[in-house]
Amino acid sequence: MFKNTFPSKPLSDHFPILLKEMKNGNRLTYLDNAATTLKPLNIVETIQKYYLLENANVHRGLHDLSEEASRRFEEARVKAQSYINAKSVNEIVFTKGATDGINLISKSYGENFLKEGDHIVISQMEHHSNIIPWQMLCKKKGCILDIIPLTPSGDLDLDTFDKLLTKKVKLLSIVHTSNTLGTTNPIKEMIQKAHSFDIPVIVDGAQALSHGPIDVQSLDCDFFVFSAHKMFGPTGVGVLYGKEKYLQQMPPVQGGGDMVLSVSLESSTYRNTPYKFEAGTPHIAGVIGLNATFDFINSLDFEAITAHEKELKTYASEALSSIEGLTIVGNSTSKAPIFSFTLKGIHPHDIGTLANEKGVAIRVGHHCTEPISQYFNISGTARASMAFYNTKEDIDKLIEAIHFIKKTFHI
Ligand code: ALA
Repeated sequence: MFKNTFPSKPLSDHFPILLKEMKNGNRLTYLDNAATTLKPLNIVETIQKYYLLENANVHRGLHDLSEEASRRFEEARVKAQSYINAKSVNEIVFTKGATDGINLISKSYGENFLKEGDHIVISQMEHHSNIIPWQMLCKKKGCILDIIPLTPSGDLDLDTFDKLLTKKVKLLSIVHTSNTLGTTNPIKEMIQKAHSFDIPVIVDGAQALSHGPIDVQSLDCDFFVFSAHKMFGPTGVGVLYGKEKYLQQMPPVQGGGDMVLSVSLESSTYRNTPYKFEAGTPHIAGVIGLNATFDFINSLDFEAITAHEKELKTYASEALSSIEGLTIVGNSTSKAPIFSFTLKGIHPHDIGTLANEKGVAIRVGHHCTEPISQYFNISGTARASMAFYNTKEDIDKLIEAIHFIKKTFHI
Protein backbone atom coordinates (compact mmCIF):
# COMPACT_ATOMS: atom_id res chain seq x y z
CA MET A 1 0.00 0.00 0.00
CA PHE A 2 3.09 2.21 0.29
CA LYS A 3 5.44 3.27 -2.48
CA ASN A 4 8.72 1.34 -2.59
CA THR A 5 10.58 4.38 -1.39
CA PHE A 6 8.80 4.24 1.98
CA PRO A 7 10.17 1.95 4.72
CA SER A 8 7.83 -1.00 4.77
CA LYS A 9 6.39 -1.92 8.17
CA PRO A 10 3.14 -3.48 9.37
CA LEU A 11 0.09 -1.22 9.19
CA SER A 12 -0.33 -1.47 12.95
CA ASP A 13 3.10 0.16 13.36
CA HIS A 14 1.68 3.19 11.56
CA PHE A 15 -1.73 2.92 13.23
CA PRO A 16 -1.27 1.42 16.73
CA ILE A 17 -5.01 1.81 17.39
CA LEU A 18 -5.59 -1.14 15.02
CA LEU A 19 -4.34 -3.42 17.82
CA LYS A 20 -6.53 -1.86 20.49
CA GLU A 21 -8.62 -4.19 22.57
CA MET A 22 -12.24 -3.09 22.75
CA LYS A 23 -15.30 -4.41 24.58
CA ASN A 24 -15.52 -8.13 25.43
CA GLY A 25 -11.93 -8.78 24.41
CA ASN A 26 -12.58 -7.90 20.75
CA ARG A 27 -9.90 -6.23 18.72
CA LEU A 28 -11.01 -2.93 17.17
CA THR A 29 -12.65 -3.16 13.77
CA TYR A 30 -12.62 0.45 12.63
CA LEU A 31 -15.20 1.07 9.93
CA ASP A 32 -15.96 4.74 10.62
CA ASN A 33 -13.51 6.32 8.22
CA ALA A 34 -16.05 8.63 6.61
CA ALA A 35 -16.43 10.30 10.02
CA THR A 36 -12.69 10.53 10.55
CA THR A 37 -9.77 8.42 9.40
CA LEU A 38 -7.16 6.98 11.72
CA LYS A 39 -3.98 8.98 12.30
CA PRO A 40 -0.54 7.48 11.71
CA LEU A 41 2.24 7.67 14.27
CA ASN A 42 4.51 10.00 12.29
CA ILE A 43 1.81 12.69 12.13
CA VAL A 44 1.00 12.41 15.83
CA GLU A 45 4.70 12.49 16.72
CA THR A 46 5.23 15.56 14.54
CA ILE A 47 2.49 17.41 16.41
CA GLN A 48 3.76 16.25 19.80
CA LYS A 49 7.30 17.34 18.94
CA TYR A 50 6.10 20.77 17.83
CA TYR A 51 4.36 21.36 21.17
CA LEU A 52 7.12 19.86 23.33
CA LEU A 53 10.29 21.03 21.63
CA GLU A 54 9.52 23.51 18.86
CA ASN A 55 6.65 25.62 20.21
CA ALA A 56 6.40 29.13 18.74
CA ASN A 57 3.94 31.43 17.03
CA VAL A 58 4.21 31.97 13.27
CA HIS A 59 4.81 35.09 11.15
CA ARG A 60 5.56 37.11 14.28
CA GLY A 61 8.90 36.39 15.90
CA LEU A 62 12.46 36.77 14.74
CA HIS A 63 13.78 34.09 17.06
CA ASP A 64 14.82 30.71 15.69
CA LEU A 65 11.79 28.79 16.94
CA SER A 66 9.36 31.22 15.35
CA GLU A 67 11.28 31.25 12.06
CA GLU A 68 11.29 27.45 11.96
CA ALA A 69 7.57 27.19 12.84
CA SER A 70 6.78 29.77 10.12
CA ARG A 71 8.88 27.88 7.58
CA ARG A 72 7.09 24.59 8.23
CA PHE A 73 3.71 26.31 8.32
CA GLU A 74 4.33 27.82 4.87
CA GLU A 75 5.89 24.59 3.62
CA ALA A 76 2.52 22.92 4.33
CA ARG A 77 0.90 25.46 2.01
CA VAL A 78 3.33 24.58 -0.77
CA LYS A 79 2.73 20.86 -0.20
CA ALA A 80 -1.05 21.42 -0.35
CA GLN A 81 -0.63 23.40 -3.57
CA SER A 82 1.45 20.65 -5.09
CA TYR A 83 -0.83 17.82 -3.86
CA ILE A 84 -3.96 19.24 -5.46
CA ASN A 85 -2.01 20.83 -8.34
CA ALA A 86 -3.12 24.41 -7.68
CA LYS A 87 -1.53 27.02 -9.93
CA SER A 88 -0.36 29.28 -7.11
CA VAL A 89 0.38 29.02 -3.43
CA ASN A 90 -1.83 32.10 -2.99
CA GLU A 91 -4.78 29.84 -3.76
CA ILE A 92 -4.33 27.79 -0.57
CA VAL A 93 -6.16 29.19 2.48
CA PHE A 94 -5.89 27.30 5.78
CA THR A 95 -9.24 26.79 7.48
CA LYS A 96 -10.70 24.74 10.33
CA GLY A 97 -11.93 22.19 7.79
CA ALA A 98 -14.31 21.71 4.87
CA THR A 99 -17.28 23.23 6.75
CA ASP A 100 -15.27 26.33 7.56
CA GLY A 101 -14.19 26.61 3.92
CA ILE A 102 -17.76 26.53 2.60
CA ASN A 103 -18.91 29.04 5.21
CA LEU A 104 -16.04 31.35 4.25
CA ILE A 105 -17.05 31.25 0.57
CA SER A 106 -20.69 31.82 1.46
CA LYS A 107 -19.92 34.81 3.70
CA SER A 108 -17.25 36.39 1.54
CA TYR A 109 -18.15 35.56 -2.06
CA GLY A 110 -21.86 34.90 -1.51
CA GLU A 111 -22.65 37.96 0.56
CA ASN A 112 -20.67 40.30 -1.67
CA PHE A 113 -21.23 39.02 -5.19
CA LEU A 114 -24.71 37.48 -5.14
CA LYS A 115 -27.91 39.50 -5.14
CA GLU A 116 -31.63 39.08 -4.70
CA GLY A 117 -33.15 36.67 -7.20
CA ASP A 118 -29.87 34.88 -8.00
CA HIS A 119 -30.06 31.08 -7.94
CA ILE A 120 -27.65 28.72 -6.18
CA VAL A 121 -27.64 25.03 -7.10
CA ILE A 122 -26.79 22.24 -4.65
CA SER A 123 -27.97 18.62 -4.51
CA GLN A 124 -30.04 16.45 -2.22
CA MET A 125 -26.97 14.39 -1.27
CA GLU A 126 -25.08 17.32 0.28
CA HIS A 127 -23.69 17.23 3.78
CA HIS A 128 -25.44 19.74 6.07
CA SER A 129 -22.30 21.88 5.76
CA ASN A 130 -23.08 22.36 2.08
CA ILE A 131 -26.78 23.13 2.68
CA ILE A 132 -27.08 25.35 5.72
CA PRO A 133 -24.58 28.09 4.69
CA TRP A 134 -26.56 28.47 1.43
CA GLN A 135 -29.92 28.54 3.24
CA MET A 136 -28.50 31.27 5.49
CA LEU A 137 -27.24 33.20 2.47
CA CYS A 138 -30.59 32.87 0.67
CA LYS A 139 -32.37 34.20 3.73
CA LYS A 140 -30.00 37.14 4.03
CA LYS A 141 -29.76 38.07 0.35
CA GLY A 142 -33.05 36.84 -1.12
CA CYS A 143 -31.38 34.22 -3.32
CA ILE A 144 -33.11 31.01 -4.42
CA LEU A 145 -31.76 27.54 -3.66
CA ASP A 146 -32.34 24.91 -6.36
CA ILE A 147 -31.81 21.24 -5.61
CA ILE A 148 -30.56 18.48 -7.92
CA PRO A 149 -32.68 15.50 -6.87
CA LEU A 150 -31.54 11.94 -6.19
CA THR A 151 -32.39 8.80 -8.11
CA PRO A 152 -33.21 5.47 -6.38
CA SER A 153 -29.64 4.22 -6.95
CA GLY A 154 -28.33 7.17 -4.96
CA ASP A 155 -26.99 9.02 -8.00
CA LEU A 156 -27.75 12.58 -9.00
CA ASP A 157 -30.60 13.12 -11.44
CA LEU A 158 -28.43 14.67 -14.13
CA ASP A 159 -31.33 15.40 -16.50
CA THR A 160 -32.80 17.70 -13.88
CA PHE A 161 -29.34 19.17 -13.28
CA ASP A 162 -29.19 20.11 -16.97
CA LYS A 163 -32.57 21.79 -16.71
CA LEU A 164 -31.59 23.74 -13.58
CA LEU A 165 -28.64 25.38 -15.33
CA THR A 166 -29.68 28.82 -16.56
CA LYS A 167 -28.16 32.28 -16.67
CA LYS A 168 -29.89 32.98 -13.34
CA VAL A 169 -27.64 30.50 -11.51
CA LYS A 170 -24.67 32.22 -9.91
CA LEU A 171 -23.14 29.33 -7.95
CA LEU A 172 -23.04 25.53 -8.03
CA SER A 173 -21.83 23.80 -4.86
CA ILE A 174 -21.54 20.06 -5.12
CA VAL A 175 -20.12 17.14 -3.18
CA HIS A 176 -17.40 15.06 -4.83
CA THR A 177 -18.09 11.81 -2.92
CA SER A 178 -21.15 11.43 -0.72
CA ASN A 179 -20.29 10.59 2.91
CA THR A 180 -23.54 8.61 3.21
CA LEU A 181 -24.19 7.02 -0.19
CA GLY A 182 -20.59 6.66 -1.31
CA THR A 183 -21.58 8.01 -4.74
CA THR A 184 -18.75 9.75 -6.53
CA ASN A 185 -20.30 12.38 -8.76
CA PRO A 186 -19.20 13.17 -12.33
CA ILE A 187 -17.96 16.54 -11.16
CA LYS A 188 -15.68 17.24 -14.11
CA GLU A 189 -18.61 17.06 -16.54
CA MET A 190 -20.82 19.01 -14.14
CA ILE A 191 -18.18 21.74 -13.85
CA GLN A 192 -17.86 21.97 -17.64
CA LYS A 193 -21.63 22.31 -18.02
CA ALA A 194 -21.82 24.95 -15.27
CA HIS A 195 -18.97 26.91 -16.81
CA SER A 196 -20.82 27.08 -20.13
CA PHE A 197 -23.29 29.29 -18.19
CA ASP A 198 -20.42 31.15 -16.43
CA ILE A 199 -21.38 29.58 -13.11
CA PRO A 200 -18.52 29.26 -10.57
CA VAL A 201 -18.33 25.81 -8.97
CA ILE A 202 -17.46 24.82 -5.41
CA VAL A 203 -16.51 21.19 -4.79
CA ASP A 204 -16.84 19.66 -1.31
CA GLY A 205 -13.93 17.24 -1.45
CA ALA A 206 -14.01 16.10 2.19
CA GLN A 207 -14.47 12.40 1.41
CA ALA A 208 -12.39 12.30 -1.74
CA LEU A 209 -8.78 12.70 -0.65
CA SER A 210 -8.38 9.50 1.39
CA HIS A 211 -9.28 7.50 -1.73
CA GLY A 212 -7.06 9.22 -4.28
CA PRO A 213 -5.36 12.41 -5.39
CA ILE A 214 -7.13 15.42 -6.85
CA ASP A 215 -6.11 17.80 -9.62
CA VAL A 216 -7.98 21.08 -9.30
CA GLN A 217 -6.62 22.42 -12.59
CA SER A 218 -7.77 19.38 -14.49
CA LEU A 219 -11.19 19.52 -12.78
CA ASP A 220 -11.23 23.27 -13.39
CA CYS A 221 -13.31 23.80 -10.22
CA ASP A 222 -13.32 27.34 -8.88
CA PHE A 223 -13.20 26.32 -5.22
CA PHE A 224 -12.35 23.02 -3.53
CA VAL A 225 -12.56 22.38 0.22
CA PHE A 226 -11.25 19.54 2.34
CA SER A 227 -10.43 18.57 5.94
CA ALA A 228 -7.13 17.09 7.12
CA HIS A 229 -8.80 14.67 9.54
CA LYS A 230 -10.47 12.75 6.70
CA MET A 231 -7.12 12.14 5.02
CA PHE A 232 -5.23 10.71 8.03
CA GLY A 233 -4.31 14.15 9.40
CA PRO A 234 -5.26 16.16 12.49
CA THR A 235 -8.71 17.53 13.34
CA GLY A 236 -9.43 21.25 13.27
CA VAL A 237 -7.52 22.08 10.12
CA GLY A 238 -8.32 22.04 6.43
CA VAL A 239 -7.81 23.80 3.15
CA LEU A 240 -9.89 26.08 1.00
CA TYR A 241 -8.59 26.17 -2.54
CA GLY A 242 -9.90 29.03 -4.66
CA LYS A 243 -8.84 30.33 -8.05
CA GLU A 244 -6.79 33.42 -7.43
CA LYS A 245 -9.09 35.58 -9.56
CA TYR A 246 -11.88 34.91 -7.03
CA LEU A 247 -9.81 35.05 -3.84
CA GLN A 248 -8.28 38.38 -4.91
CA GLN A 249 -11.72 39.99 -5.17
CA MET A 250 -13.19 38.43 -2.03
CA PRO A 251 -13.12 40.45 1.20
CA PRO A 252 -12.00 38.86 4.48
CA VAL A 253 -14.73 37.68 6.86
CA GLN A 254 -12.72 37.92 10.06
CA GLY A 255 -10.58 40.79 11.23
CA GLY A 256 -7.60 40.49 13.55
CA GLY A 257 -3.86 40.07 13.73
CA ASP A 258 -1.75 38.87 10.81
CA MET A 259 -4.29 39.66 8.08
CA VAL A 260 -3.46 43.36 7.89
CA LEU A 261 -0.99 45.62 6.13
CA SER A 262 -1.64 48.59 8.38
CA VAL A 263 -4.17 49.58 11.02
CA SER A 264 -5.20 52.97 12.31
CA LEU A 265 -8.10 53.78 14.58
CA GLU A 266 -10.08 54.94 11.55
CA SER A 267 -9.43 52.17 9.04
CA SER A 268 -7.21 49.26 8.04
CA THR A 269 -5.73 47.79 4.89
CA TYR A 270 -5.52 44.07 4.34
CA ARG A 271 -2.87 41.69 3.09
CA ASN A 272 -3.34 39.77 -0.11
CA THR A 273 -4.78 36.28 -0.34
CA PRO A 274 -4.36 33.88 1.44
CA TYR A 275 -3.32 35.86 4.52
CA LYS A 276 -6.30 38.21 4.53
CA PHE A 277 -8.46 35.13 5.27
CA GLU A 278 -6.31 33.88 8.17
CA ALA A 279 -6.89 36.33 11.03
CA GLY A 280 -5.41 35.57 14.45
CA THR A 281 -2.99 32.90 15.59
CA PRO A 282 -3.77 29.95 13.34
CA HIS A 283 -3.90 26.26 14.25
CA ILE A 284 -0.12 26.02 13.96
CA ALA A 285 0.22 22.49 15.33
CA GLY A 286 -2.57 21.40 12.99
CA VAL A 287 -0.92 22.95 9.93
CA ILE A 288 2.46 21.45 10.88
CA GLY A 289 0.58 18.14 11.27
CA LEU A 290 -0.94 18.73 7.84
CA ASN A 291 2.58 19.19 6.49
CA ALA A 292 3.40 15.68 7.78
CA THR A 293 0.04 14.45 6.43
CA PHE A 294 1.12 15.33 2.89
CA ASP A 295 4.38 13.40 3.42
CA PHE A 296 2.33 10.42 4.57
CA ILE A 297 -0.22 10.62 1.78
CA ASN A 298 2.53 11.11 -0.80
CA SER A 299 4.06 7.85 0.41
CA LEU A 300 0.87 5.94 -0.44
CA ASP A 301 0.59 3.93 -3.62
CA PHE A 302 -2.88 4.97 -4.75
CA GLU A 303 -2.86 2.55 -7.65
CA ALA A 304 -2.53 -0.34 -5.18
CA ILE A 305 -5.02 1.33 -2.82
CA THR A 306 -7.64 1.75 -5.55
CA ALA A 307 -7.34 -1.93 -6.44
CA HIS A 308 -7.53 -2.96 -2.76
CA GLU A 309 -10.55 -0.74 -2.06
CA LYS A 310 -12.29 -2.07 -5.16
CA GLU A 311 -11.81 -5.61 -3.90
CA LEU A 312 -13.06 -4.64 -0.42
CA LYS A 313 -16.07 -2.96 -1.96
CA THR A 314 -17.05 -6.01 -4.02
CA TYR A 315 -16.51 -8.29 -1.02
CA ALA A 316 -18.57 -6.05 1.29
CA SER A 317 -21.29 -5.54 -1.28
CA GLU A 318 -21.73 -9.30 -1.84
CA ALA A 319 -21.57 -10.14 1.86
CA LEU A 320 -24.02 -7.42 2.92
CA SER A 321 -26.45 -8.13 0.06
CA SER A 322 -26.67 -11.78 1.08
CA ILE A 323 -28.10 -10.89 4.52
CA GLU A 324 -31.87 -11.20 4.62
CA GLY A 325 -33.63 -7.98 5.62
CA LEU A 326 -30.57 -5.83 4.92
CA THR A 327 -30.89 -3.04 2.37
CA ILE A 328 -27.91 -1.11 1.10
CA VAL A 329 -28.83 2.56 0.66
CA GLY A 330 -26.86 3.89 -2.30
CA ASN A 331 -25.98 1.54 -5.11
CA SER A 332 -24.23 3.83 -7.53
CA THR A 333 -21.83 2.18 -9.95
CA SER A 334 -19.34 4.92 -9.08
CA LYS A 335 -19.30 4.16 -5.39
CA ALA A 336 -16.51 4.70 -2.83
CA PRO A 337 -16.19 1.96 -0.16
CA ILE A 338 -18.92 3.49 1.99
CA PHE A 339 -21.94 1.31 2.84
CA SER A 340 -25.03 2.73 4.48
CA PHE A 341 -27.64 0.12 5.24
CA THR A 342 -30.85 -0.60 7.08
CA LEU A 343 -31.88 -3.83 8.79
CA LYS A 344 -35.58 -4.59 8.66
CA GLY A 345 -37.18 -4.21 12.10
CA ILE A 346 -34.06 -2.86 13.83
CA HIS A 347 -33.36 0.81 14.51
CA PRO A 348 -29.94 2.04 13.28
CA HIS A 349 -29.00 3.09 16.83
CA ASP A 350 -29.50 -0.48 18.04
CA ILE A 351 -27.30 -1.69 15.19
CA GLY A 352 -24.53 0.70 16.25
CA THR A 353 -24.80 -0.12 19.95
CA LEU A 354 -24.70 -3.88 19.42
CA ALA A 355 -21.94 -3.72 16.78
CA ASN A 356 -19.92 -1.87 19.43
CA GLU A 357 -20.29 -4.90 21.73
CA LYS A 358 -18.28 -6.80 19.10
CA GLY A 359 -15.62 -4.10 18.80
CA VAL A 360 -17.01 -2.93 15.46
CA ALA A 361 -17.02 0.88 15.16
CA ILE A 362 -19.59 2.14 12.65
CA ARG A 363 -21.64 5.32 12.49
CA VAL A 364 -25.43 5.40 12.73
CA GLY A 365 -28.05 8.08 12.14
CA HIS A 366 -28.42 10.62 9.36
CA HIS A 367 -24.66 11.24 8.96
CA CYS A 368 -25.33 15.00 8.68
CA THR A 369 -27.29 14.36 5.46
CA GLU A 370 -30.90 14.35 6.65
CA PRO A 371 -32.33 15.12 3.18
CA ILE A 372 -30.97 11.74 2.00
CA SER A 373 -32.98 9.96 4.74
CA GLN A 374 -36.01 12.03 3.68
CA TYR A 375 -35.61 10.95 0.05
CA PHE A 376 -35.38 7.26 1.01
CA ASN A 377 -38.05 7.69 3.70
CA ILE A 378 -35.93 6.10 6.43
CA SER A 379 -35.01 7.08 9.97
CA GLY A 380 -31.31 6.91 9.18
CA THR A 381 -28.89 4.10 8.44
CA ALA A 382 -25.94 2.25 9.87
CA ARG A 383 -22.80 3.07 7.91
CA ALA A 384 -19.59 1.12 7.43
CA SER A 385 -16.93 3.19 5.69
CA MET A 386 -13.53 1.84 4.74
CA ALA A 387 -10.00 3.07 4.21
CA PHE A 388 -6.89 1.44 2.76
CA TYR A 389 -5.93 -0.22 6.08
CA ASN A 390 -9.20 -2.17 6.25
CA THR A 391 -9.20 -5.83 5.32
CA LYS A 392 -11.64 -8.55 4.31
CA GLU A 393 -11.40 -9.78 7.93
CA ASP A 394 -12.85 -6.44 9.05
CA ILE A 395 -15.82 -7.02 6.77
CA ASP A 396 -16.19 -10.56 8.12
CA LYS A 397 -16.32 -9.04 11.63
CA LEU A 398 -19.02 -6.63 10.51
CA ILE A 399 -21.07 -9.45 9.00
CA GLU A 400 -20.64 -11.54 12.17
CA ALA A 401 -21.82 -8.55 14.21
CA ILE A 402 -24.90 -8.12 11.99
CA HIS A 403 -25.83 -11.79 12.47
CA PHE A 404 -25.38 -11.33 16.23
CA ILE A 405 -27.67 -8.25 16.11
CA LYS A 406 -30.36 -10.10 14.15
CA LYS A 407 -30.16 -13.01 16.60
CA THR A 408 -30.47 -10.64 19.57
CA PHE A 409 -33.64 -9.20 18.01
CA HIS A 410 -34.90 -12.66 16.99
CA ILE A 411 -35.06 -11.54 13.37
N1 ALA B 1 -19.31 14.18 7.96
C1 ALA B 1 -18.80 13.19 8.85
C2 ALA B 1 -19.48 11.86 8.65
O1 ALA B 1 -19.90 11.57 7.57
C3 ALA B 1 -18.74 13.61 10.24
O2 ALA B 1 -19.57 11.08 9.57
